[in-house]
Amino acid sequence: MKWIRTVRALRAALDPLRSRGIGFVPTMGALHRGHTALFDLARRECGVVVASIFVNPKQFNDPSDLAAYPRTEAEDGELAAAHGVDVLFVPPPDEVYPSGFATQVTVGGVALGYEGAFRPGHFDGVATVCVKLFGMVQPARAYFGQKDAQQVAVIRQVVRDLNLPLDIRVGPTVRDDDGLALSSRNVRLSADERRRALAIPRALAAGLRAFREGRDPAAAAREVLAAAGLEFEYADVADFAGEPTLVVAVRAGATRLIDNVPLRDPQAAGLQV
Ligand code: PAF
Repeated sequence: MKWIRTVRALRAALDPLRSRGIGFVPTMGALHRGHTALFDLARRECGVVVASIFVNPKQFNDPSDLAAYPRTEAEDGELAAAHGVDVLFVPPPDEVYPSGFATQVTVGGVALGYEGAFRPGHFDGVATVCVKLFGMVQPARAYFGQKDAQQVAVIRQVVRDLNLPLDIRVGPTVRDDDGLALSSRNVRLSADERRRALAIPRALAAGLRAFREGRDPAAAAREVLAAAGLEFEYADVADFAGEPTLVVAVRAGATRLIDNVPLRDPQAAGLQV
């Protein structure tokens, strides 16, 4: 696996390989099995696999969240290599946002509400960095996790609206044995917070059962979260490109966790119901 830190070196490495089909997995590092499942999927589907690690300052509306974001570059490199990544692109901030950088992608539609409402500017930051990374890597396919369902919907909208020449592929949510969706933020949970956070997959499962029985999925989910004493920012059924998706955002202590289940495609959420 090649480590690359500049756009010039990335282009030089990838230009001769383009005809093999480049699969790209953008990440912010602190890699876990959710990421490695995307590397594996890209490995099966593409001739060349590129991953990036870049903790994108533009998508953090809370400076303390950015400062606390885990950074584990050496371990990340080992995991990426073990899962078939050919090129690991790890640019420093000024390679992505050099001095004088003054462009931003602003997304409406599906970016409004939910994460868009609770994290102002977040999706503009995600869209801006993804458009830049797509321009740098020029992949045929880019891979994202279902865990960030609204992010997937936003990226699809950007790709469609800007006629970007790549396919977006989505890997199912990966969960720990206790049902908690894997997230780089889980390491910040105390044992007690983690135990309480297990109400999240239970709430999604209750919502899914309600949907199947013709009851209100959001009300069923809220009931489970409230009974566990979990403070939630939202627990609602979102419409992501016609797909009804039960989405929740919860605070466990200082840590904010999101999760979801597409009600007509629950396997994508990795839930055992
Ligand atoms: O999902 C993430 O890790 C980030 O939002 C992404 C897509 C790598 C953009 O910074």
